[in-house]
Amino acid sequence: MSRRILILYKSKTGFTKRYAEMIAAETGGTAMEFKEAGTGIFSSYDQVLFGSRMHAGRIDGLENARKLFQENEVKLAALFVTGAMPNTEARTIAEMWKNNLKAEELSVLPHFYMQSGLCYEKMGIFDRMMMKVFVFMMKHKKESSPDEKHFAEIIASSYDISSKDYIQPLVECMNRHVD
Ligand SMILES: Cc1cc2nc3c(=O)[nH]c(=O)nc-3n(C[C@H](O)[C@H](O)[C@H](O)COP(=O)(O)O)c2cc1C
Repeated sequence: MSRRILILYKSKTGFTKRYAEMIAAETGGTAMEFKEAGTGIFSSYDQVLFGSRMHAGRIDGLENARKLFQENEVKLAALFVTGAMPNTEARTIAEMWKNNLKAEELSVLPHFYMQSGLCYEKMGIFDRMMMKVFVFMMKHKKESSPDEKHFAEIIASSYDISSKDYIQPLVECMNRHVD
């Protein structure tokens, strides 16, 4: 019998939603907004995934997600996080996991970073303001490296570096766990 997979996501500007839908299409799962999920839903699924965005160094909504999963005795099958920084920023990404995940999560919960981009058109006013301040600080930082200067230019406007390719490590991990 095939697994019933639920991919819960939190998404403000659409990148995480798109990744969740790609994962759903690839695994035969169901993508659903986190806020739609309530007690009772989990008995219909064998595996649950959670995806969200990076937000000023934090994984947006992770604390609420942990709470819901704990209350419903759900063991998360995998976590994925989308962000503006490219996948090549391995050190920053490793640091991000360390700052956001508990020690036991780091060791047992499969977790995946997927580069996405920025969409100013769909951002809320506060997010747009936060980005403006961040870009200003990056541009006026003393002794910034050429890479940092380049990144400051890139993040000043919308861009999309997402790709279906980046879901593959997660999909392969899910396939490995089929009994
Ligand atoms: C205020 C703000 C802060 C952000 N902070 C980070 C960050 O710390 N690291 C990162 O890689 N991306 C960061 N991003 C980019 C988002 O994580 C990225 O656009 C994400 O894919 C958005 O997901 P969504 O479209 O599903 O809402 C930030 C975006 C905003 C608006």
